[in-house]
This record gives sequence, C-alpha cells and structure tokens, in this order.
Amino acid sequence: MKVAVIRIEHFNAAHRLYRKDWSDEKNREVFGLCSNPNYHGHNYYLEVKVSGEVDPETGYVIDLKILKDIIKEEVINKFDHHNLNEDTEEFRNLNPTAENIVMVIYDKIRKRMDKSYDIKIRLSETERNIVEYPCD
Ligand code: NI
Repeated sequence: MKVAVIRIEHFNAAHRLYRKDWSDEKNREVFGLCSNPNYHGHNYYLEVKVSGEVDPETGYVIDLKILKDIIKEEVINKFDHHNLNEDTEEFRNLNPTAENIVMVIYDKIRKRMDKSYDIKIRLSETERNIVEYPCD
C-alpha cells in the first residue's frame, strides 16, 4: 500500500527573467515586469510529495525529519534570501522561471532519495501561479 507524504517549506528569493542574448527591449516584450533589470522578489512555497510503501516496522513512508533536512540542505540554504541569477550556480546561465526552478529542485531532491520513492514537486511563485514537476 503506497501513501504520499508532503512536506511544505518556503523561501524568499529575487530574480530577473531575461536572456543575455536578447536586447533589453525584447526581454521586456517577452517577460514584462519580471524582466526589470533591478530584480524583484517572490515568496516561494514549495511542496515536496514523496510516495512510497509504508514501512511496517516504523509506520513511516519516510521520516519527515530526514525529508525536512534534505530540503533544507538542497534548496532552502542555497536559495533563501538569495538572488537566483547572481548568487547561484544553478541559474547563472538558466532563466529562473518557476518552470526551471521546479525542475532544478526536483533534480536536487531526487538524487538524495531512494529510487523506490516517487517524488513530485509543486512550487508556488504567487498564490495564483503554480508549477508542478513531473507532470501527471
Ligand atoms: Ni518574478
């Protein structure tokens, strides 16, 4: 019997959506206010969903303390209160859209988790703008 457990975290980060190979004009046209050269911030809400078999010995799918620590090490410590474009290796050459951020976070968490787990990441950039990876 598989059960999904979900850990919710959040972080604040600044970003700018733009392509270095496009003019400021074209960036503004495509990315709008999110392309503001002086950056802007978001309160990101992150949901990490882990599905797996319940261990009959512990009654856990995963110890949530372990999951919490992995998210903290891989995501929160690196992104919280940082400028994604300027302060992180991950987005130095990758546009920090919610789509790209959610895939980067997935890869980081995935590589720390046992293969037997299914992982799904949901990232809310605003209350109304939410991305999920992988897709159903
Ligand atoms: Ni933005």
